[in-house]
Amino acid sequence: MHIVFAASECVPYVKTGGLADVVGAVPREVVSLGHRATVYLPYYRQVRERAPEKAVAIHSLTIPFQYYNRFSAILDGGVHDGVQFYFVDCPEMFDRESLYATQTGDYPDNWERFGLFSRAVLEAAKQLGVPDIFHAHDWQTSMIPVYLRTIYYFDPALRNAGTVLTIHNAGYQGWFPPQTTERLLLPWEIFTMDRVEHYDTFNFLKGGIVYSDAITTVSRKYAEEIQTPEFGEKLDGVLRTRAADLHGILNGVDYKEWDPATDHNIAAHYTPENLEGKKECRRDLLHAFGAEHVADETPVLGIVSRFATQKGFDLIAQIAPRLLSGDVFLIALGTGEPYYEGLFRTIQNQYHGTASIKIAYDSILAHKVEAGADIFLMPSRYEPCGLNQIYSMKYGTVPVVHATGGLDDTVDEWDAATQVGSGFKFMNQTADDFYSALERALEVFRNDKKSWVQIMRNGMAKSYTWQKPAKEYVDVYQQVARRRS
Ligand code: ADP
Ligand code: GLC
Repeated sequence: MHIVFAASECVPYVKTGGLADVVGAVPREVVSLGHRATVYLPYYRQVRERAPEKAVAIHSLTIPFQYYNRFSAILDGGVHDGVQFYFVDCPEMFDRESLYATQTGDYPDNWERFGLFSRAVLEAAKQLGVPDIFHAHDWQTSMIPVYLRTIYYFDPALRNAGTVLTIHNAGYQGWFPPQTTERLLLPWEIFTMDRVEHYDTFNFLKGGIVYSDAITTVSRKYAEEIQTPEFGEKLDGVLRTRAADLHGILNGVDYKEWDPATDHNIAAHYTPENLEGKKECRRDLLHAFGAEHVADETPVLGIVSRFATQKGFDLIAQIAPRLLSGDVFLIALGTGEPYYEGLFRTIQNQYHGTASIKIAYDSILAHKVEAGADIFLMPSRYEPCGLNQIYSMKYGTVPVVHATGGLDDTVDEWDAATQVGSGFKFMNQTADDFYSALERALEVFRNDKKSWVQIMRNGMAKSYTWQKPAKEYVDVYQQVARRRS
């Protein structure tokens, strides 16, 4: 089979979160299972800086909008690990400072940017290879299934192609004014409650859910959660109508990048059998965060994250007076919403003896935190999968997490009686529950070193490679292809 992956992020070209890691990995794995994979990405400024002067595959595609056309070239990004890359080049849409938003908010023309991208992928595929499956990711590429089943319905070249949509995060849906329907040249008939209309907005993700042949999301638990009013972000109703076609496929991680035995970003290597190197990594981390004064027995708590409402950092602020007046040291690395950057700056100012915060996006430091911290904090309100808790377990950095989505699927609670478990979980996303899970962790860390090492080793023994999830994706592609043929 030939799969076209259309996404708004992909490592190593451009990344703001886990979506990029997943889109970087799945196509490669699909190729290793004997299939053909092509990835389309917007040619953002950030991509151009990494991959300048690419050969032109298509000089000019005409992408019509309501009163005008835009024109996009397709650049050939070459073949890497068997995966063909193409970039959709439309400078007025993508040659910008950021991917989606600036400090003042989302780009108002995001509907046009990602509408154009989605339509360009369909048009480009007609010349460069129509796949068996178009695999779209999140709201940004949700117009692919919508176009295919509406205004491209009669196109003989695309008729047999199937569509799969992966929801990495139902919290971001792409809401735009109703007029977006006609601006994207879509018929008004689809602006109804059972299609793209959502509380009087045009909702990209809802369109993707309604029109895709199959839908996947990135953990089993999140697949259940998004069908409930609590986690469905007001899409639970439409997701329940698609329950038979909705699959939870847990993300894998790339252990070539994330393994303390080989990681070239960290100060020393270590393994479950020989943990000595982790001490060196801890010293190196404390040095990088200007915290050499922290004593050896003080537990170092780490955070690496987008600073977004989803991530639940309000709880950090709420427990800070209790937690950071004690014998712990908090290290956080992240960027994102101004409110949460402010929240962390305040923590830094109030507790400069027990916290060090860096408002930055820095991949090398992210590895250093995973390796150097003792405990990793993820109090997320919701977490479709979450990669950092999986990394942290591999690095023997014990996660303390809210039992939601992929966090619940990947971390098991430590049980002193059986010596089983790789972390600590709390059921209700409240300051008290979070604090008590942290206290359980700190209690073992301080008073029972032997058990602590066992928890570390339990986590390090876990393996979340891409092999199994890649097979599950291929199963879904095959089911869809069978239905369409
Ligand atoms: P999400 O996709 O919701 O942001 P994930 O846990 O799935 O959450 O993935 C986050 C990814 O982004 C991880 O690979 C993590 O290391 C990386 N990341 C997040 N924030 C930063 C940062 N400030 N610096 C470096 N890497 C970061
Ligand atoms: C999203 C989710 C995260 C998930 C990632 C990759 O950004 O927030 O939980 O791991 O996508 O699927």
